[in-house]
Amino acid sequence: MSPVPERHLLVIFGATGDLSHRKLIPALWELHKHSPARGRTVILGLARADLTDDAFRDQVREALKNEGPEHAAEISRWCRDSIYFQSTGDGSAAAFERLKARIGAIEHAEGLYGNRAFYLALPLPAFAPTVEALGHVGLHRSKGWTRLVLEKPFGHDLGSAQALNALIHRFFDEGQVFRLDHYLGKETVQNLIAFRFGNALFEPLWNRDRIERVELTVAEELGVEGRGAFYEQAGATRDLLQNHMLQVLAVATMEPPAALDGESVSNEKIKILKAITPIRPEDYVVGQYGAGELNGKKLKGYREEPGVDPNSVTDTFVAVRFGIQSWRWQGVPFYLRTGKRLPKKLSRIIVTFKSPPAAVFNPYIVCGMGGNRLEIVLQPNEGFNLSFQVKLPGDGMRLHTQEMRFRYAEAFGHLPEAYQTLLLDVMHGDHTLFVRGDEVEQAWKVCAPMLDGHRELHTYAAGTWGPPRAEQMLAEAGCCWTDPS
Ligand code: BG6
Repeated sequence: MSPVPERHLLVIFGATGDLSHRKLIPALWELHKHSPARGRTVILGLARADLTDDAFRDQVREALKNEGPEHAAEISRWCRDSIYFQSTGDGSAAAFERLKARIGAIEHAEGLYGNRAFYLALPLPAFAPTVEALGHVGLHRSKGWTRLVLEKPFGHDLGSAQALNALIHRFFDEGQVFRLDHYLGKETVQNLIAFRFGNALFEPLWNRDRIERVELTVAEELGVEGRGAFYEQAGATRDLLQNHMLQVLAVATMEPPAALDGESVSNEKIKILKAITPIRPEDYVVGQYGAGELNGKKLKGYREEPGVDPNSVTDTFVAVRFGIQSWRWQGVPFYLRTGKRLPKKLSRIIVTFKSPPAAVFNPYIVCGMGGNRLEIVLQPNEGFNLSFQVKLPGDGMRLHTQEMRFRYAEAFGHLPEAYQTLLLDVMHGDHTLFVRGDEVEQAWKVCAPMLDGHRELHTYAAGTWGPPRAEQMLAEAGCCWTDPS
């Protein structure tokens, strides 16, 4: 049975925005419905708009409209008993004083002890003024616990990430800060820990002696979907590689942590990030999608998307190769790629093991025999495929590559959403699946050469697997991206 979180107030900045409606409210509702968190959270939504509690509760009901009529009465009860709203207006000191007073009044009425989490569901430029305003009115401390939750992007580059960390640390201790990267909350990413350290089978093979190469692909079929103005400031390197992908890679390659807690896991992840070899110009390819076609549908090029500069040089695709200079990984190449408007949504890690010495077989028959391959499918259709050689039935010794499959849905049914897991961890004060400040800065250092230097932007047709140069980069190393089909 999971522990029950202490009763607390969750204050959501940006409560009327997209993140709040699409992810936070549904996750909080799920926690209310099923978990030990039921009845433990009182929510105070904040936004500039001047809404009443009831008008905000209507928005919450709207965000949950797909829940079905059988839940309507309970949703209304939940809204009435546990959800409030306050306008932050112009964000002035006076508005934050009013916020402080309202928090005190709600805590008094609800009999809360002063445990508070502030969730900044805000765009990056609003982080610093909000943190500063919280600090100035003294909301960074209370007689219970106070936690600050921020979601990526944590800065725009190394300098801005350092400045943001420094500002946060003026008011909050690192132990109060929860930097949320939703990929770490995905069941399949958490399962990397169970898979690696809970089985005697794989960990002894998880090193340079046995592994030929590792690939990580995060492919998206969607384009920028109305987020053109935001994406123009980001691009694939900042939006996915610097955070989600480097975090997944760190979990997949780190040494066993001393314990399963935030400090121990971050101590291991940072060692990996520090050991990544410097990225040279020949080690990466950036691309941007042009017009194309997918599943019979014509697709616009990135530069024609709303909110995008017609001469934009923003990357919508990036592929990179590097090594990890450690005892375990030295000499193993890591290939990472991500892009928008690729042929399908798919995130997976592919670990290719070294080929066995196949001398016992007739060389003509085993020609082209690959090593074993482990495919960890992060999404969709989460699970693993492990490929190995079997004898083809019949005459002679002919080998065939066969796959063994595991699928979460078949074994366990529905998987919880990342936000549910991560919000519950914030309530428990568990940092295991969060990103420490030094990891953020180190990940920016890794990506800096790709952001600072002169970058040749390669165009690819929407609906294809990225620019041909990304294929060529691997061909030069004598391999290719594993066929996504
Ligand atoms: C977000 C990025 O962090 O992750 C988006 O800003 C991207 O551009 C999204 O689409 C992908 O998340 P998921 O969970 O759908 O793979």
